[in-house]
Amino acid sequence: MKDRIILAIESSCDETACAIVKNGNEILSNVVSSQINIHQKFGGVVPEVASRIHVENISLVIEEAIEKSGIAIETIDAIAVTQGPGLIGSLHVGVMAAKTLAWMLDKPLLPLHHLIGHIYANAFIDRLEFPLLALVVSGGHTELVLMRSEWEFEILGTTQDDAIGEAYDKVARVLGLPYPGGPAIDKLAKEGKPHYKLPVCKTDKPLDFSFSGLKSAVLQLIDREKRASRDLIAADVAYAFQETALNDLVQKTLMAAKQTGIRQLVVAGGVAANSRLRALLSEQIPSLETVRLTLPPLWCCTDNAAMIAAAGCVALDHVAPADLKLAATPSKELSDS
Ligand code: KG4
Ligand code: ZN
Repeated sequence: MKDRIILAIESSCDETACAIVKNGNEILSNVVSSQINIHQKFGGVVPEVASRIHVENISLVIEEAIEKSGIAIETIDAIAVTQGPGLIGSLHVGVMAAKTLAWMLDKPLLPLHHLIGHIYANAFIDRLEFPLLALVVSGGHTELVLMRSEWEFEILGTTQDDAIGEAYDKVARVLGLPYPGGPAIDKLAKEGKPHYKLPVCKTDKPLDFSFSGLKSAVLQLIDREKRASRDLIAADVAYAFQETALNDLVQKTLMAAKQTGIRQLVVAGGVAANSRLRALLSEQIPSLETVRLTLPPLWCCTDNAAMIAAAGCVALDHVAPADLKLAATPSKELSDS
């Protein structure tokens, strides 16, 4: 079969990224310019600031990705871009750049869903086998997605309120840890002990999630300790939060895996980098003898364009190319893919 080369652009949040990938899993270049240092000063992503920095960086990032790939740009087969979900101003910069390139080079333009990129990041280390369940855990999403076959997505469970990564970031903030909170809590929880107890929030549907109550419970715990003039043991709070949140995630993932008879479980999104989540799944998934567990490489858990290119390679067979009227869609649904 002829090689497929995809150039992809990702700018949905605070990373400006461009990558060129061959046949869905061979990286020719992967450039990510992170804005984390700038947003850290504000304790979170400031949308206005993010879009301005994307504007400053996008051309440089694309030029660098083309140069590093060592290919002639005319040889690419398509341009893939994150159309949504994400921050409107941020997405707009990537979509405009992708439209410009598609027009200049006269190549198909593939608008993609950000979460599909996270799921296909697993293709860099493993072949995807269907039916497949994806546990998607990021700053904006907590979803159990069933794929009965290639490019078929059904949401089995979702969060009723905060996303898991958002809960990590908020709890980190009240503990005085830096943004983004996920890696900081992951590290601190390793020094923590079982000491505090936190409740798991009930949901109407058995495969849905709820994390805002857990965040409030952490706030109440901090307040209670303060009123009792007891020193707060931050590592034990991080431990209690992480164990409560992750055990709920893992338990529901196991339940969904049993119900659907899947062959493969993949984990996707920034929180897939969490060391405790990876350990819990590695311990518990082997109990389902017919399910293979795939964890994405750490470099590919947080936002990047290589994952969008990997998805783009498959999208060539499933997604109608967009015309130049394509617009960023901040609340793009998986069902529109
Ligand atoms: O996928 P991502 O880069 O952006 C979104 O699409 O949201 O995910 C970012 C999220 C942040 O909430 C961050 O705190 C979380 O992923 N994260 C982690 C870890 N590394 C990143 N959460 C828990 N443990 C980690 N090691
Ligand atoms: Zn993401």
